[in-house]
Amino acid sequence: MAGLIPQTFIDDLLHRVDIVEVVDKRVPLKKAGKNYQACCPFHNEKTPSFSVQPEKQFFYCFGCGAGGNAIGFVMEYDKVSFPEAVETLARDAGLEVPREESKAETRRQSENSKLLDCLETASKFYQYQLRQHPAKQSAVNYLKSRGLSGEVARDFALGFAPPGWDNLLSATGTDEEQTKSLLRAGLIIERSKQKEQADETGEVERGFYDRFRDRIMFPIRDSRGRTVAFGGRVLGDDKPKYLNSPETPVFHKGSELYGLYESKRCNEKFKRLLLVEGYMDVIALAQMGVRNAVATLGTATSEKHLSRMFRAVSEIVFCFDGDEAGRTAAWRALETTLPQMEDGRQVRFLFLPEGSDPDTYVREVGKEKFLEVVDNAQPLEQFFFDKLSQDLDVGSIEGRARLSNLAKPLIRKLPKGVYAQLMLDRLSDTLGVNTESLDQLLAAAPEQPPVPDIPPPPPPPQTRTTASGPGEALTKHRKPAALKAIELLLRNPEVALSIERSLEPLRTAEDSSRKLLLDLIEKVQQQPQIETYTLLGACYATALGSQLTQLLKEEKITPQEGIEDEFKQIVDNILSDIEKKLHILQLKEEANTRVSAANEGNQDGLNPV
Ligand code: UTP
Ligand code: MN
Repeated sequence: MAGLIPQTFIDDLLHRVDIVEVVDKRVPLKKAGKNYQACCPFHNEKTPSFSVQPEKQFFYCFGCGAGGNAIGFVMEYDKVSFPEAVETLARDAGLEVPREESKAETRRQSENSKLLDCLETASKFYQYQLRQHPAKQSAVNYLKSRGLSGEVARDFALGFAPPGWDNLLSATGTDEEQTKSLLRAGLIIERSKQKEQADETGEVERGFYDRFRDRIMFPIRDSRGRTVAFGGRVLGDDKPKYLNSPETPVFHKGSELYGLYESKRCNEKFKRLLLVEGYMDVIALAQMGVRNAVATLGTATSEKHLSRMFRAVSEIVFCFDGDEAGRTAAWRALETTLPQMEDGRQVRFLFLPEGSDPDTYVREVGKEKFLEVVDNAQPLEQFFFDKLSQDLDVGSIEGRARLSNLAKPLIRKLPKGVYAQLMLDRLSDTLGVNTESLDQLLAAAPEQPPVPDIPPPPPPPQTRTTASGPGEALTKHRKPAALKAIELLLRNPEVALSIERSLEPLRTAEDSSRKLLLDLIEKVQQQPQIETYTLLGACYATALGSQLTQLLKEEKITPQEGIEDEFKQIVDNILSDIEKKLHILQLKEEANTRVSAANEGNQDGLNPV
């Protein structure tokens, strides 16, 4: 998947696909006039406010404000990245996605592969030291004391960083190139440059030392098995217990899962993964024959972690300590999980007896019993309702009202589907109201955090009063004027043609939205036929793309026939604003020149200004 997708391909793809087909395949549509309708897949609703416009090749939801082109729809609906959405659409259209390697990309890849080589060499080195270093016995004894066999040590490629400041450094070469790679890979550290170290010429001698010393080494491998980082544990009780590689171009702590590669590589095919907290939990479970455990690297569970796991299996069991801290962490994990609870996925919470971790627990009770406990772990829905009603009296009206208030914003985070409906049913059971009215309640309840009220869909043109002129529309929007203008333009590119004033002042603008506005206006002026989706396609892959998608979602609907006026007005204001500032600047400059001229003149006996 390396390389950039050429813009021309994206444009071409968008011309070929029909958004109606793309959406209809996922969410069956009904024809309504020249557009199509359905209940919005992005929020809970009973009456359809989601509309697909074949003419503009655009979808939009009047209820939640979601909107975009075919690529945007696939991104949101399939929960995939931009390139993945392009791949999906291209595959359906029978096209192959071409890739262009930019120079920067090629350079980045070759640098990354250098780092990966370096990390692999280091991993081999540490493994070798565990077998042959004179001080290896302490490490071997430690691993034995934790009950680990040579086989598991091999499967996890455990190693030993011997005591000493430069074992790795001197073993893997000290030429400048190599040092640079070791440094970037986080394997060595540069000595702080101190003044005293400077020789007479003022030159500071550069010095480096090994990051990992006298530690058991746990290589962290990505899903393809490439070593991307290390965790290193002390042999005793010293602090810090673990040292981890820093973030590097090839290692992002918040998305890696320790043990994922190892669990995929073993011969069993798993339908569930256990998420535990520590390196040692993963390894101890593997030692006991439970080979489907993975761990985050000392961070909270992120959405990235979850999607990586759900890519591999359909069920995740979170293992937490049964104490207060464990329950709090579990709740946080639950909140992160909600948006990913698509139908067919399952999540359970396993609370271990206080003071145990999976490592100690599995050794205490053995594999069979442990698996039985995992089988019986609390399903998400049970933990959800237990936790929410924990301090409430659901027998009382107030208690039920509170439960409903706590649960609704969370249930709303669930993707639409059978699971969300089940949760709703369960809530209404507990509350003693029927689902229908609860559903309406849910739709009516404010979002969290509350968003400003969404105006109703535009009235038919004839009924629109002219009372609200463009000026009023302008003051209603709190976002920067340029962003509002961009929104209007994206939806209706032709408004750019209404600008007759010179855009010159905009060229001096320094903020990114004004620059983008200029860019977009010029694009449309050069290509008057350009359509929303082509414009969007032009920026989808960029950081701006996501900003624009966001903008489209936030779009408050402006009645169609007011758009051009509003757009003109905003751009006018921006241009006048810049002109005014330029003018003031100019006046100041003139004044300055006059003052200095006068000062010079003064010497000739003239009065100062
Ligand atoms: P634990 O203290 O539970 O680690 O921390 P553990 O793996 O069970 O280790 P043992 O059993 O004491 O040997 C959980 C995770 O938090 C991170 C590590 O990823 C660890 O596995 N951690 C912990 C650190 O990064 N640094 C530390 O100093 C401690
Ligand atoms: Mn532990």
